[in-house]
Amino acid sequence: MEIDRRRIRRLIRQARTRERTLDRVIRGQAWLDPVAEAVQKAVGSFYTALGMPGVSIKDVMHGTKVLGHPLHPALTDIPIGAWTVGVLADWIFIATGRVPQVAGDLALAVGLAGAILAALTGYTDFHETTGHERRTAVVHGLTMTGVIAIEAVSLVMRLGPGVRPAAILLSTMAWLIVVVAAYVGGQLTFGIGSAVNHNAFFDGPMEFVRVGTRDDFPEGEMRRVEATGLPVVIVRRQGLLHAMGAVCSHAGGPLHEGELDGDVVTCPWHHSKFRFEDGRVVGGPATFDQPPLFVRERGGIVEVKLAHPLK
Ligand code: FES
Repeated sequence: MEIDRRRIRRLIRQARTRERTLDRVIRGQAWLDPVAEAVQKAVGSFYTALGMPGVSIKDVMHGTKVLGHPLHPALTDIPIGAWTVGVLADWIFIATGRVPQVAGDLALAVGLAGAILAALTGYTDFHETTGHERRTAVVHGLTMTGVIAIEAVSLVMRLGPGVRPAAILLSTMAWLIVVVAAYVGGQLTFGIGSAVNHNAFFDGPMEFVRVGTRDDFPEGEMRRVEATGLPVVIVRRQGLLHAMGAVCSHAGGPLHEGELDGDVVTCPWHHSKFRFEDGRVVGGPATFDQPPLFVRERGGIVEVKLAHPLK
């Protein structure tokens, strides 16, 4: 009995040590939830106040429209790259004088402009996060917001006389914080899977496979089936069957539990909209389309196959 208890304690200890320190620390910070909720409320109110244009602007900020891919990660390269160049330019100027003084200032300003855009898109994506993902995102977002404030102060100091060394020290310190904040952001995407296509790891049938019979799919009702491991949602509209992946590409929501309006289904979790005709995302926060499938009915048997390979 005592041996069993020791073994269980050892297994629990091992399970604990397997979780990344960052995740474990963030998981313990319950005080982050009210902060995150307040930020999400502010973001939601901002877009609501914009009315109908707010919906389109939000879609552009997510990357659903225009880019067709998450916009925030693409923008973060600007401040990280520019601030890295800026810090190098500042210190080469101090050490050798072979780089013009203004080079560091310019790089800092470019980075600042990029960081503000990245922050706007980041807070937009943050609006639809929950649980551990949300806590991690708020740590990342607030740290980066602090960095933006420090860089802005450094830029203003550089415009005045006599405080350049302090301004350079400040932006160097901010760059070091960026490295930490970027690591948290990386964990958010690569570790937790935020903003990744939730259909990325599915495969499905490239030949027609049976998923039911005619009576299983009454007019106007969505039905979830499995096709060689791929969850599929099927609907019959005006007698014709349409199908696409049932797992929402945004965060894995069950599309068959969503709301159907004509050819468009709205995800029950964060209200992304997808067109049954071709799986296209027509409303964010999702930025990736659903896997489209061909459907056929032969002799009362319903079969589906992927319209194109998923990998
Ligand atoms: S899971 Fe977020 S919109 Fe579907």
